[in-house]
Amino acid sequence: MASYPRIGVVGGTGAVGTVTLGLLRDRGYEHVRVFASARSAGTEVHGYLVEEATTEALERGDIDIFLFSVGTGASLALVPHAVAGGAIVVDKSSAYRLEPGIPLVVPEVNPNRALEHNGIIANPNCCTIPLTCVLKPLHDRAGLKRVRVATYQSVSGAGAKAMDKLAHEASKDHDLRMDWEFDGVEFDEESKLREETRKIMELPNLAIQATCVRVPVMVGHAETVWIETEEPLSAADATSILGAAPSIRLDEFPSPGKAAGEDEVLVGRIRQDTTVEGNYGLTLHLASDNLRKGAALNAIQIADLLVSALASR
Ligand SMILES: NC(=O)c1ccc[n+]([C@@H]2O[C@H](COP(=O)([O-])OP(=O)(O)OC[C@H]3O[C@@H](n4cnc5c(N)ncnc54)[C@H](OP(=O)(O)O)[C@@H]3O)[C@@H](O)[C@H]2O)c1
Repeated sequence: MASYPRIGVVGGTGAVGTVTLGLLRDRGYEHVRVFASARSAGTEVHGYLVEEATTEALERGDIDIFLFSVGTGASLALVPHAVAGGAIVVDKSSAYRLEPGIPLVVPEVNPNRALEHNGIIANPNCCTIPLTCVLKPLHDRAGLKRVRVATYQSVSGAGAKAMDKLAHEASKDHDLRMDWEFDGVEFDEESKLREETRKIMELPNLAIQATCVRVPVMVGHAETVWIETEEPLSAADATSILGAAPSIRLDEFPSPGKAAGEDEVLVGRIRQDTTVEGNYGLTLHLASDNLRKGAALNAIQIADLLVSALASR
């Protein structure tokens, strides 16, 4: 591989960052440096020496693409310095996702938006990414009218510390949790799913409602989705559309365990929603690896888009 791009993984010691490093290595990216906080600077991860993500280091101008997975507060503090140094940042926190003018990209859904950046591209929420991969081909065929979602999200979605806690928790203490910011009506995870889906699909008025729940599973998020369409769509047609869609694999009974470690979104249980008259309602179930397609892999696919756009100039 050519010396471009020089990649900086900021948050490389975290749940998403460590998966990012493995995927970059598998995909042949050679020029990779790893950054994290002062807490882990000087340690090693995946054979890389961890550097402290100081503002000076980020501004130095010796990295082409930064992949950030450090949390919203740290992203707001650090990303502008990386951009000031001339790099393009793909940020996985929620800091920039809904900012007007900042592309929010799922490569299977809106790849062209990635090239419209001013230095920052936002990577969507780990439930929004697989959901939009499924919604896009169905919308293209039959038009989305209404979407309802129930999520079953794994503990790794809350980061490395939460994974460690689950690993040491007695099974009698396992429970469903709702550990997101609550505004009295909705969790921010639920509003993110709605607003990010609308932005990515470019359907600002899409009727969409989610209920998000965390389950005592280590890796892999599942979602049950109820879809109403403008045009009739049979379960058989939806199945063949989704079977041909990018990054989707049909599976009879998708589960987090089956999805963990996989790149594709598993989709199954595709059937008519009998509460909706005619062929205007579908129900389906999906599962995807939140650390891969839900975070690290999607961001690397965005980096791939940037690299190929530059190569074709
Ligand atoms: N987990 C998921 O499924 C998922 C999916 C999509 C998006 N995301 C987003 O990705 C981000 C990271 O998530 P995660 O699950 O990987 O969290 P995590 O396991 O807690 O890892 C956080 C990482 O950020 C680093 N960090 C924290 N504060 C920093 C600072 N001030 N300067 C430099 N580095 C700092 C930590 O480094 P130290 O080792 O030095 O503490 C660590 O490498 C979050 O914004 C999250 O919302 C996560």
